[in-house]
Amino acid sequence: MSNFRDTGHLFRFAGIFVAAILIFLAIRGWLVPHTFGQYGHYRGAALNEIAAKPVHFAGHQSCETCHADIAEKKSSGKHASVHCEACHGPLAAHADDPSIQPAKIDTAVLCAQCHETSAAKPKGFPEVETASHSNGVSCETCHQPHSPALEAGGAQ
Ligand code: HEC
Ligand code: HEC
Ligand code: HEC
Ligand code: HEC
Repeated sequence: MSNFRDTGHLFRFAGIFVAAILIFLAIRGWLVPHTFGQYGHYRGAALNEIAAKPVHFAGHQSCETCHADIAEKKSSGKHASVHCEACHGPLAAHADDPSIQPAKIDTAVLCAQCHETSAAKPKGFPEVETASHSNGVSCETCHQPHSPALEAGGAQ
């Protein structure tokens, strides 16, 4: 039993570990939000907070129910894959209440955003140097935004 004569310092050392773990748990309990882990590895209350945010985009299905003519024109043209709000911006407020007028689009800015020549674009994507291509004439003078392709050489 003489081996256990001087074990006092071991218990003091273990005591420091226990105290450190208790302090860690106390700080963790204080810092981690209460609903963390309620459903998974995230804050449960975040679900309601996100759901309560205002909706900005209505989604193209919503636009298409009221603007079926435009949807049909678009679906047969080169912009078939570009959804309404990619160009018109978020319009949930207008879809809920059509008397709220959508803002007019500045095509000189909008069209260039996607079609300005850039080495970063995928091969085959239609690009133009807008300045020399349009010479300052607005894009929709020659291209219809909802069905933009032209017979080579002719407007409309
Ligand atoms: C509940 C029906 C309804 C929905 C949904 C709706 N609109 Fe409209 N929208 C209208 C009406 C009505 C007008 C005004 C009359 C008109 O010009 O056709 C209008 C006008 C517009 C205009 C302006 C027309 C102009 O003359 O300047 C744009 C652009 C437009 N809508 C785009 C959209 C887009 C994009 C969506 C989807 C996010 C959408 N609308 C959803 C009914 C709707
Ligand atoms: C490639 C961009 C683009 C897309 C995609 C697009 N629009 Fe437009 N739209 C325009 C531009 C540009 C105008 C003309 C300028 C303006 O009215 O602000 C316009 C005009 C309109 C107008 C006014 C009436 C008219 O015929 O000119 C309505 C309504 C409209 N868009 C609805 C829609 C709906 C609904 C969709 C989806 C089905 C859609 N747009 C998709 C660019 C786009
Ligand atoms: C959000 C991106 C986007 C915007 C904004 C946009 N386009 Fe496009 N455009 C596309 C895509 C995607 C295609 C189809 C490319 C393909 O077929 O590979 C396309 C195709 C075209 C084509 C057909 C080219 C061909 O192959 O003959 C023309 C012309 C064109 N756009 C003009 C315009 C004009 C004018 C505007 C502004 C009113 C505009 N685009 C706005 C994405 C966009
Ligand atoms: C004066 C008429 C005119 C104006 C204005 C105009 N375009 Fe064009 N665009 C054409 C014609 C014609 C073609 C088809 C022949 C060609 O490729 O040059 C064309 C082709 C395109 C193409 C397809 C290029 C390709 O490689 O297939 C895109 C994209 C385009 N235009 C975008 C625009 C944009 C964006 C604007 C506004 C900044 C604009 N255009 C203004 C006449 C015009």
